[in-house]
Amino acid sequence: MFTFKKNKTNNVIDYTRLPTHIGVIMDGNGRWAKKRGLPRSAGHSAGADTLKKIVTECNKMGIKYITVYAFSTENWKRPKEEVDYLMNLLMSYLKDSERTLSGENVVIKAIGIREELSDELQEQIKKTEKFTQNNTGIIMNIALNYGAREEIVRAAKEIAREAAEKKIDINDINADTISSHLYTKNQPDPDFIIRTSGEERLSNFLLWQAAYSELWFCDKLWPDFTIKDLHRSIIDFQARGRRFGGV
Ligand code: FPP
Repeated sequence: MFTFKKNKTNNVIDYTRLPTHIGVIMDGNGRWAKKRGLPRSAGHSAGADTLKKIVTECNKMGIKYITVYAFSTENWKRPKEEVDYLMNLLMSYLKDSERTLSGENVVIKAIGIREELSDELQEQIKKTEKFTQNNTGIIMNIALNYGAREEIVRAAKEIAREAAEKKIDINDINADTISSHLYTKNQPDPDFIIRTSGEERLSNFLLWQAAYSELWFCDKLWPDFTIKDLHRSIIDFQARGRRFGGV
């Protein structure tokens, strides 16, 4: 049975063909703040509010997974004040999520190099993951101190270790072996990746998993991204023919 929902452009979302896993590169917080004469931190704070709205809507729509790029392994190069602000924002976002997103049945996980985060943030991540683990709604991966090349290197080291310990045979290593050693193991690859702010690149986000993802770019800055924009992106996604290298 097909269910359609009308939107303002008169196009419709086909709820039987939603993307299973959406990746989001939430870009443009700094420019959003600059345009308003505000500190960059105000852009990140507005970006966090947008994120909450978008995750809530994805969950309502029935999308199963969302992975959001919150802090890359390269973001440490930003001024200390901005890094500190982002870390505090992440901390309060996670704490707050126990009340808000978890109330919406969202499962929250963090992906990335945890050991380099402060002890307090590591503790909070564990606590939030545990608090939300039995929820049954959308699974939200927060990419935090995440870099795809590091993720692949880490997987390669683990596989090499297992081969050295004779737990796996080198001849049996295939693409599934790599996938099952990534942070996103047991999850489907993203079929759709959104990036805001007019930049059109992946910036070390889910490089392995994005092999067949449809990419969607828009000029809007992340804090300005709306539920209507999300719907428009999904309508565009559904209009594309996904062939996975076939004809
Ligand atoms: C890119 O914008 C955005 C980031 C580096 C951080 C993304 C963080 C958030 C949306 C809010 C916090 C997230 C959570 C999960 C609480 P930019 O700063 O590079 O913007 P610019 O390119 O305009 O300078």
